Amino acid sequence: MARTMPYADMDKMMSLSKRRGFMFQSSEIYGGLASTWDYGPLGVELKRNVKEAWWRSVITERDDMVGLDAAILMHPKVWEASGHVENFSDPLVECGSCNSRFRSDQLEELTLASEWWLSAGKFLGYPFASYEFSPNNSNRSGRETEKLIQDWINQSLKHQAPKIPLVANLNLVPLVIQPLQEIVLTSALIREHLIKLINAITGGSGINPKWPCPNCGGELGEPRRFNLMFKTFMGPVEETASEVHLRPETAQGIFVNFANVVNSTRKKLPFGIAQIGKAFRNEITPGNFTFRTREFEQMELEFFVKPDESAEWLDRWVQSRFDWYKSLGISESKLRLRQHKGDELAHYAADCYDVEYEFPFGWSELEGVADRGTYDLDQHAKHSGKKLTWFDSKSNEHITPAVVESSAGVDRTVLTILADAYHEEEVKGELRTVLRLHPKLAPTTVAIYPLVNRDGLPEIAAKIFDNLKNDFAAFYDAGGSIGRRYRRQDEAGTPFGITVDSDTLEDDTVTVRERDSMEQERITMSQLQDYIFDKLR
Ligand code: GAP
Repeated sequence: MARTMPYADMDKMMSLSKRRGFMFQSSEIYGGLASTWDYGPLGVELKRNVKEAWWRSVITERDDMVGLDAAILMHPKVWEASGHVENFSDPLVECGSCNSRFRSDQLEELTLASEWWLSAGKFLGYPFASYEFSPNNSNRSGRETEKLIQDWINQSLKHQAPKIPLVANLNLVPLVIQPLQEIVLTSALIREHLIKLINAITGGSGINPKWPCPNCGGELGEPRRFNLMFKTFMGPVEETASEVHLRPETAQGIFVNFANVVNSTRKKLPFGIAQIGKAFRNEITPGNFTFRTREFEQMELEFFVKPDESAEWLDRWVQSRFDWYKSLGISESKLRLRQHKGDELAHYAADCYDVEYEFPFGWSELEGVADRGTYDLDQHAKHSGKKLTWFDSKSNEHITPAVVESSAGVDRTVLTILADAYHEEEVKGELRTVLRLHPKLAPTTVAIYPLVNRDGLPEIAAKIFDNLKNDFAAFYDAGGSIGRRYRRQDEAGTPFGITVDSDTLEDDTVTVRERDSMEQERITMSQLQDYIFDKLR
C-alpha cells in the first residue's frame, strides 16, 4: 500500500531542503518574508531539470509546438479582455477577533492543518492527528475521553484558540465525546463526523458548519470578493492611468501573440505555443511550503485546434500530461486525474481535468488541462479590434481556433518531486535519509570520491571528475569519512557515487554505488561514461 507522507515528514523534508540547499526562506536574515522561498544551489538545479524535462516533452520532441517568452508586464486592457479585472477574485473572510484573513473556500483544509486542531492529536489521537485510523484509542471509555478533552482545553486549546466556544462553554464537552466515539466505532472519519465535531467545538448546528478562525478560534465574518492581481505603476507617476498588473498567469502572453506567431512561423492548425515564466497572485492564504505562494512559476501551453476537434485534443493532452508526471518517477499510486464538476468549471471552459497528487495535506492540484473553446481569442479580438483568426486554405474561410490549455506549476512540481522522493530507512541500526530522485532530475548526477586523501587517489578522482563534468552534473567530494560523504549525497538525491581506492591503482577500476539499493559494483574507469549514460536512459 502507498505510504502517505505524514505532516511530520513534510516538516523533515522542509528542514532537509534548507540543510542541503534546495530551498531557503526569502530574506531570512531579516526575519523572512511570509510564504516566499528562494531556491538554493541544489534547488535551482532541480527546478532547471524540471523545466528542461517539460520543454523537451512539449516542444523539442514534437513538431506541432513552438515556444515563447512574453513580458510579465502587459497592457492593462489585456486583463479587462481576459476577465481577470472583473472575475479573478477569491472569497475572503475576516476574523472578528484577531483580524486574520482567509479564503472561505479553504476553511476546512486550513482547520485540519491548524495548530489547535493538530494539538488535539496529542491528547485525543485519531481523528485529529491524522486521517489514518489508529486503533490505540478504541478501548477508551466516555469518562476517559472527557478527561482528555478537558486536558486538551486547559493545556492547549485555551492558549492556541482562546476564542473558540468550547473553551468558555464546558457544556459542549459531552457533544464532542459523541462524534469521537462514533468515529472510533466505525473506524472511519467521514464528512458527517467532521461536521458534528466542528459543530460540537463551536456550539453550532446544521450541515454547513460555521468554521472558526483557524488562527484563534474566533468568529469569522461574511465572505466578500478580493481581487488577486498585484498592482504597480509604470513610470514615475503613481496615478490610475499608469497602473499595471503583474501577470497572474502566463497564458495571456500567448493569446495576445497568437497572430505574431502564426505570421512568423506559418504554423497550421493544430499547433500550440508554450512558455515558462513567473506569475503573481496576491493569495489570501498562501502556505504548505511552496504549494501556494504569491510569486510562482508556471509552465503553460495553449494548443489551437479547429473548434470541432477540441474534445478529442483535450483527451490526448490530459493523457500526455498525466504520463509526464509518471515519467518523472512520481509514484503512480499518488497521482490521479479529476474531472471538474459542472459548477467548478470556469465560465469559459467546456471541460477541465486536474492532475492531482496526494500530499500530506490531502489530494491537491498540480495542473489543470482545460478546453477553453474560442473564449480567449474572441475576447482579445473584441477588445483590441484586431483579427485573431486562422485562414483555412482548404475551406477558404477564416476560423477562430478553440484552445486546449495545459497549465502546470513549476514550484508545485518541484515540491511534489521532493515530497515523493523523501524516504527514511534504517540501515545497520542507523537512520538513513535519502531523496529517491529520478536520475534525470537529480541536481547532481554523480559524485566522485577518493577513499583517502593520499597515495595519488585524489588526483585520479579529480581526473575522473574532469572527464565526466561535461556530460553530467558531477561533484568532487574529498571531505570526511566515506560513510558521511555517501549520506550527504543520499540526502542530496545523487543517484551515483564513484569511489577511487587502492585497487584503482592496480587495475583501473572504481566502485560505483547506486543510491537507492546502495549496491556497489566494480567498473573500469574507461566505461564510466557509457555506464552512466545507460542508466539515465
Ligand atoms: N491559465 C490557467 C491557470 O493559471 P490555475 O489553475 O489558476 O490556471 C495553474 O493555475 C497552475 O499554476 C496550478 O495548477 C498550479 O500548479 C500553479 N499555481 C497556481 N496558483 C499558484 C500559487 N499561488 N502558488 C503556486 N503555484 C500556483
